[in-house]
Amino acid sequence: MQPRDLSAHEPYVPGRGTKEVARELGVDPDSLIKLSSNENPHGPSPAAVDAIADTAETVNTYPKSSHTDLTARIADYWGLSSEQIWLSPGADGAIDYLSRAFLSPGDTMLISDPGFSYYPMSARYHHGTIRTYPVSKTQHFRQRASDILAQYDNERLLYVTTPHNPSGSELSPSEITTLAEGVDDHTLVVIDEAYGEYSTNPSAIELIEEYNNIAVLRTFSKAYGLAGLRIGYAAVPESWADAYARINTPFAANKIACQAALAAIEDQSHVERSIETARWAREYYREELDVRTWPSGGNFVLCEVGDGNAVAEAAKQEGVIIRDTTSFGLPECVRISCGTREQTKTAVDILSEVIADVDAATTAAESAIETEVGRPWHSHVSQSQERLGPVRQPSPNTLIHRSYTWMMLFMRARRSLPQGVMRNVTQLLLILRQLARGLVIGMVSSNHTWLIILMLMVLLSSDVILKSLNLVFGSQMNQQHQYRKTSRAKHLISFFRKPSTTTAKNMSGR
Ligand SMILES: Cc1ncc(COP(=O)(O)O)c(C=O)c1O
Repeated sequence: MQPRDLSAHEPYVPGRGTKEVARELGVDPDSLIKLSSNENPHGPSPAAVDAIADTAETVNTYPKSSHTDLTARIADYWGLSSEQIWLSPGADGAIDYLSRAFLSPGDTMLISDPGFSYYPMSARYHHGTIRTYPVSKTQHFRQRASDILAQYDNERLLYVTTPHNPSGSELSPSEITTLAEGVDDHTLVVIDEAYGEYSTNPSAIELIEEYNNIAVLRTFSKAYGLAGLRIGYAAVPESWADAYARINTPFAANKIACQAALAAIEDQSHVERSIETARWAREYYREELDVRTWPSGGNFVLCEVGDGNAVAEAAKQEGVIIRDTTSFGLPECVRISCGTREQTKTAVDILSEVIADVDAATTAAESAIETEVGRPWHSHVSQSQERLGPVRQPSPNTLIHRSYTWMMLFMRARRSLPQGVMRNVTQLLLILRQLARGLVIGMVSSNHTWLIILMLMVLLSSDVILKSLNLVFGSQMNQQHQYRKTSRAKHLISFFRKPSTTTAKNMSGR
C-alpha cells in the first residue's frame, strides 16, 4: 500500500527551534536569541495567556461559540460581515482554503520568486501548478503591478506578499488596485499581509468592498504573538464569501486559539508595543550592520553577508539563531528577525564580529587560492591567522568559533583549489624527484659524499610532500571526478523525468 505519487511535493522545512539548537550546542536554551522565524520577541499578550489558562478546562467541547465569536470580532474590527472572515489554522490554513475554493486540477497559481514556500505546496496539494514572477535583488526586490502583470498569463490565483518575505519590500495600495484591475475575471488576487501590522501602508482589506477579486490574508502569529496556536484568517469579498461553509474543515480553528485571539485583539497596547519595537529594530539593523540591507516593512531585515550559510552557522555558535536564505535562492544573504531592543543590540554586536570573521576567512581562502604556486601554502594560512587574530580576544565561545572558521577556511581552500595548480605542483615535484634520483646514481660513482646526502634529502622530502599532497587533496580530485559522473547521471535522469513548471528551490518558509 502506497500513497499517491508525491514525488513533486517538497517537504516543508521549518526553521530549527531554540531547544533543538540548545541541545546541539549543549547550552541553556535561555542563553540563545532566536531571530530566525519572524516571531514576536515580546511573547503573547498577558491577556491571551490568561485566556488560554481559563479555556483549558473546557476543551472537552467543540469550539462552536468561540469560532463564531472570534469571526464576529474580526469582522467588526475591519467593518466586514462575519461571512467575509474565513478563520483558519494560521494564514497557512487560509492559503489552503483558497486553494480548495478556487483551484480545479491543472489550474495555475502565480507566485513570487523568491517567496513563501507554502504557496506552491498548497497548489500542489490541490493538483494545481505553479508559475513564478521575479522579485529580484537586481531590482532591489521592488514589487510593481506592471512587472507582475507582464508575467501574468491568466492564472487562477495570483499571490502577492506585502511586506514580502524574505526581502521586506512592499506593494502600495494603488499598485494593488492596478493589479486587481489588470487581471482577467476568473483570477483571484490574494494579498498576503502576514506582516501587515508592521507596515505603515493601509491594509488591502479596505479594497475588498470595491473589488470582488481580492482576498487578504492575516495572521495572529506575528504581531499578536500567537504563532504556536496556529490561528489566522482570510478576508474575502461578500459575493463569494459563503464558499467557506462548503470547503472548510469543521471547526477550522481550535477553542484555545480562538479565545486567545479574542483576548489578544482587546490588548492593542501589546500589539502596538510589538510593532514599535520591530520598527525600531529594523532601522537599527540597517544603520548598525556594516553590510548591504534593504528597507523592510516587516519585522525582519534581509542582509547581504557574502556566505549566508557560514554567517548563520557562526552566529549560531555565538548564540544568535538567524535565517540562512539559501533555500530562498539567496545564498549570499541572511534574514534577521527583529528582537527586543536588548536582543537586537546583542545580535548586532555578535553579527558584526561574525560577519567580519567570516569575511576575513573567505578573503584569506580566496587569496590563498589566487597566490602563486611557488609560495609555501602554510604562509598563506599564517597570513589569514594574522587577519583573524586581532579581531577580538578569544573567549571559550570565540575559540569554538575560531576553530570553526579555521575548519571552514581549510575546507574552502581544499574545495576550490584549482586542479591545474595541483597538477603543476605535482609534476614539478615528480621532475625534481627523477632529477635527484639520477644525480644520486651519478654521485655514487664520483664519490662526492655531501652531494649524495643532499640529493637523498631532496628525494626524501619531495616524496614526503607528494604523499602529503595526495593525502590532503587526493580525495578532492576523486570527488570532482565523482561529481562529474553524478552530474552526468542526474542529467540523464532529468531528461526522462516529467517536466514540472517550477521547483520549490527559491521558496521558503518562516
Ligand atoms: C509571507 C507569509 N505568509 C504566511 C505565513 C504563515 O503564517 P501562519 O501560518 O503562522 O499564520 C508566513 C509565516 O511566516 C509568511 O511568512
